[in-house]
Amino acid sequence: MTTAEKPSVVAAPRATIGAKTLRKDRWWLAPGLTAAGLIAWLAYSVTRVFQQDNYWVGEYHYLTPYYSPCTSTGCIEGAAVFGRFTPDHPLLPYAMLSLPILLVFRLTCYYYRKAYYRTFWLSPPACAVPDGHKSYSGETKFPLIFQNIHRYTFYVAAAIVVLNTYDAILAFNTENGFGFGLGNLVLLLNVTMLWAYTLSCHSCRHVTGGRLKHFSRSPLRYRWWTFVSKLNVRHMQFAWFSLGTLAFADFYVMAVSAGWFSDFRFFN
Ligand code: FES
Repeated sequence: MTTAEKPSVVAAPRATIGAKTLRKDRWWLAPGLTAAGLIAWLAYSVTRVFQQDNYWVGEYHYLTPYYSPCTSTGCIEGAAVFGRFTPDHPLLPYAMLSLPILLVFRLTCYYYRKAYYRTFWLSPPACAVPDGHKSYSGETKFPLIFQNIHRYTFYVAAAIVVLNTYDAILAFNTENGFGFGLGNLVLLLNVTMLWAYTLSCHSCRHVTGGRLKHFSRSPLRYRWWTFVSKLNVRHMQFAWFSLGTLAFADFYVMAVSAGWFSDFRFFN
């Protein structure tokens, strides 16, 4: 077949449609609910992070994850397991070493990108609904090219979950020795969700199985990759559950610390 005989693959021009979208369903509901959930979580979290109070229950060694690790010179001594060496200022979070990294980790997460590209950036808000912007450069240009930092923040975020797990274990060591209360369950549930979210990260999947040409030659990595892949399909759910357990664990510690109610004790 000569070049002249080859079939044309030039797409026909698009039909001229006056309507913004032909979708008749409530396509705006999902981005609307996502926006409401993210804004509510952010408002609560910012308030709590800068409150700099009611973050520690000394009697049961409960530390809210929003203040871990507590490194400010303003931290209560018992809450500062790793020492107090960062400045105490109303505009600096007590956990100023971990919170900015966790924020970047979540902001650049593949799931959250989808969420806020649709809800806030409107790029596009839903399938078959026009983009809110005239041009599209994806994540190849400033500022969105910085989304690539996600794979690096993954390692630090995983280390911070180790710290949160350490906090949850330390909480069994009360002022009177070993103890176990409802707060321990709340903290354990939170770290379980944080592990589920972190291990189901796409970067984690790449770390465990990426670049492997022969799974049969790396059976251990293959098993890890298979496990992480199973978690990975639920990444969106873990993203939301872990946001919820973070806020709930913080609220529980705040409420017990402020004396709104007592911790329910199963033992000691
Ligand atoms: Fe969501 Fe990595 S992709 S945390």
